[in-house]
Amino acid sequence: MNQIHKEWWRTATIYQIYPKSFCDSGDKGIGDIKGIISKLDYLKTLGIDAIWLTPMYQSPMIDNGYDISDYYNINPDFGCMADFDLLLAMAHQKGIRIILDIVVNHTSTEHNWFQSALGNKDSEYRDYYIWKDPIDDKAPTNWQSKFGGNAWALDEKTNQYYLHLFAKEQADLNWENPKVREEVKNIISFWAEKGVDGFRLDVINLISKPLDYQHDHQGDGRRFYTDGPRVHEYLQEISDAVFNKYGSVTVGEMSSTSLEQCQQYSSLDGKELSMVFNFHHLKIDYQNGEKWSEIPFDFLQLKSIFSHWQQGMFGNGWSALFWCNHDQPRIVTRLGDDKEYRVESAKMLATSLHMMQGTPYIYQGEEIGMTNPGYTSIEQYRDLESINMHDIMLNQQGKSEEDVLAILAQKSRDNSRTPVQWNCDKNAGFTSGTPWLQVAGNYTDVNVEQALKDKDSVFYYYQRLIMLRKEIEVITTGDYTDLAPEHSQLFCYRRRSEQQTLICINNYYGEAAEYELPADLDVEKGKYILGNFPELLIGEVTHLVKLKPYECRVFLLEHE
Ligand code: GLC
Repeated sequence: MNQIHKEWWRTATIYQIYPKSFCDSGDKGIGDIKGIISKLDYLKTLGIDAIWLTPMYQSPMIDNGYDISDYYNINPDFGCMADFDLLLAMAHQKGIRIILDIVVNHTSTEHNWFQSALGNKDSEYRDYYIWKDPIDDKAPTNWQSKFGGNAWALDEKTNQYYLHLFAKEQADLNWENPKVREEVKNIISFWAEKGVDGFRLDVINLISKPLDYQHDHQGDGRRFYTDGPRVHEYLQEISDAVFNKYGSVTVGEMSSTSLEQCQQYSSLDGKELSMVFNFHHLKIDYQNGEKWSEIPFDFLQLKSIFSHWQQGMFGNGWSALFWCNHDQPRIVTRLGDDKEYRVESAKMLATSLHMMQGTPYIYQGEEIGMTNPGYTSIEQYRDLESINMHDIMLNQQGKSEEDVLAILAQKSRDNSRTPVQWNCDKNAGFTSGTPWLQVAGNYTDVNVEQALKDKDSVFYYYQRLIMLRKEIEVITTGDYTDLAPEHSQLFCYRRRSEQQTLICINNYYGEAAEYELPADLDVEKGKYILGNFPELLIGEVTHLVKLKPYECRVFLLEHE
């Protein structure tokens, strides 16, 4: 257990910034680095330990910066290198660490390497990418791009296809080529030398492709390249050469992965990565695995997935805990009630996640309970995945416009990308120009200025959760048991270490409920340390707990 206390990030909370939507220091309608600097004090007040910045490198912005054309420069939309250096210095001055997003499964097709490789089999960069001859005049395999359509695009001049697991403007790098791996090390070292504290590795479990490329008759191809044959070897190589040398914290984004793989990626010997994101707990509202559907979430499945991962990672690896990011809809709309019980359900959802083992991530706006915007027309969307899927659902799957818009309003990535709501001014104080993506209509009620004025706001609740993680050791070290896995309304789990027992009780629904604490729990010896109806926590603790809609409580007992 000593190791668990040694590393700062095991008791830390990390805040994710999506710069384009965070804060515009001027009137461009796009957030920028100066805007981030202007909010560092706000983040300090929240109490976070580090900021993860999604990509700000040079990019044609087809996928909002996840299509990088130059890894060594800042996109002018966001500012310049001097701005970045200032951000890094000021964050450090305030005791906030900086984590950058590294996207090396693919580059933009505008990257010099790809530009040189395109149409030229003799280019020294041709082998930086994955090229295959057509088969029967068609793409070499039937693999699907994650954003819809076939995953291969034709280079007409050489009559070969290149692989793109994402947009056709995002060409997959060939990690089999040692020169590519050297380039990756150089890129990461460049930023680590500047003093960047860590890295989030975009879709990093997709980097190792199989040697032979076959049709997938069962799925979209992912089973051939997810957690691919050499992925652990590659991560160990990069880790040895860079991460361990600089002492960087690392978090890998693991797409469609398994517990066994994640135990190895984040194993406690530090050979690969510090921690991992997985997405299984967010697929509970997919119909038969299909994201583009509109169904209620499966509550029992949610709890069983958390048990599987919390227990499986215990003593073996380390999880990045999260509900929200720039690819996921807002959690309070998704699993809570974003109208009548917005504040209560936002706090309850935060509690049920933040009392688990791992390192929690807060996505910008989550700390004030921001909601999906509820767009009603395709013209309001900007995300290429949403626009592609709108077309596919409408024209290939024959869905009605109304159904497609309802699905997008629930699942689109733009749901979380709306500008941060700072105050009641025009455009929620995000920009003095026209925002690149429309602000959610509820900004006059839901905004930072109001949250800071209200001591019962979601903001101060998150502040408390961040503090508790540092104060109460069982949150970091304890084991995990679901106390009511079959209950259709309550999510109650126990964390236990040598010194402490913690019980986290959450009502996930809009009806009152009752819960009986375990009979062998010495309730008189412990106390409630947190709840979203604090007035109900006063007085004697009894075994029978009566819960209001969306109520949550955390009970702590010190062992003797
Ligand atoms: C990750 C990013 C997402 C991006 C994709 C391709 O999933 O989070 O925003 O589109 O990778 O880089």
